[in-house]
Amino acid sequence: MTGKMLGIDVGGSSIKAGVVDVGAGELLGELICAPTPRPATPDAMMPVIAALAGRLPEAAGRIGLAFPSVVKHGRARTAANVDHAWIGADGAALVRRTLERPALFLNDADAAGLAEMRLGAGRGVQGTVIMLTFGTGIGTALFTDGRLFPNAELGHMELNGMDAEKWASAHVKTVEGLDWRAWIERVNVYLERMHAMLWPDLFILGGAISERFADFEPLLRSQAEIRPAQFAGQAGVIGAALAAAESES
Ligand code: BGC
Repeated sequence: MTGKMLGIDVGGSSIKAGVVDVGAGELLGELICAPTPRPATPDAMMPVIAALAGRLPEAAGRIGLAFPSVVKHGRARTAANVDHAWIGADGAALVRRTLERPALFLNDADAAGLAEMRLGAGRGVQGTVIMLTFGTGIGTALFTDGRLFPNAELGHMELNGMDAEKWASAHVKTVEGLDWRAWIERVNVYLERMHAMLWPDLFILGGAISERFADFEPLLRSQAEIRPAQFAGQAGVIGAALAAAESES
């Protein structure tokens, strides 16, 4: 696989884009980003995505669009942190219409997980791996022997009578002003529940918080190994571009 491909990662608060050398699995230059419009409808978002893509003309071919929804047969099926107008939307068709370029539309955590499994913290790891992205919500991606089980939505597992992501996401840490100890205690409970059901060999903790892994690592507790994501907040962009390249080849 070679070439410079565009990866776009839509989040609840920002939309990131970058050019990825898919052969080397590296970001070329800086990530650029724009705030996610409110309401986060397809009509409001597509011009923002087009403007970001327009600033990165060096990328060619298919665009990888990572999105915070279950994506089945090319269509968004859920909309936890974006407008419900996305439900049923065909993301690749919207990109084709707006940018006149082919695209691959996939779940954001699946994209981040692919980047980590192919080139980052999970590279070469056999057995069961659960990738977690902590942001506005909690994204999860499940792998067994390197193969993705798509659209795992373990961020919506019930914890304390609510969605896990409403209790333990990075956004909740900020909003509730939790210190590392208080927040990691919640993360530990969450990891324990997932472990009881899926018995992973490895958890990869991703999202921007993974850059602070050294600060909170001593507080983490799990029967499975825990590693920080290597690509931190860039994993979604890199994985979206890799998935787009793989789907072309
Ligand atoms: C969504 C997932 C997404 C995660 C991270 C959750 O609310 O349901 O599809 O992967 O947020 O963005």
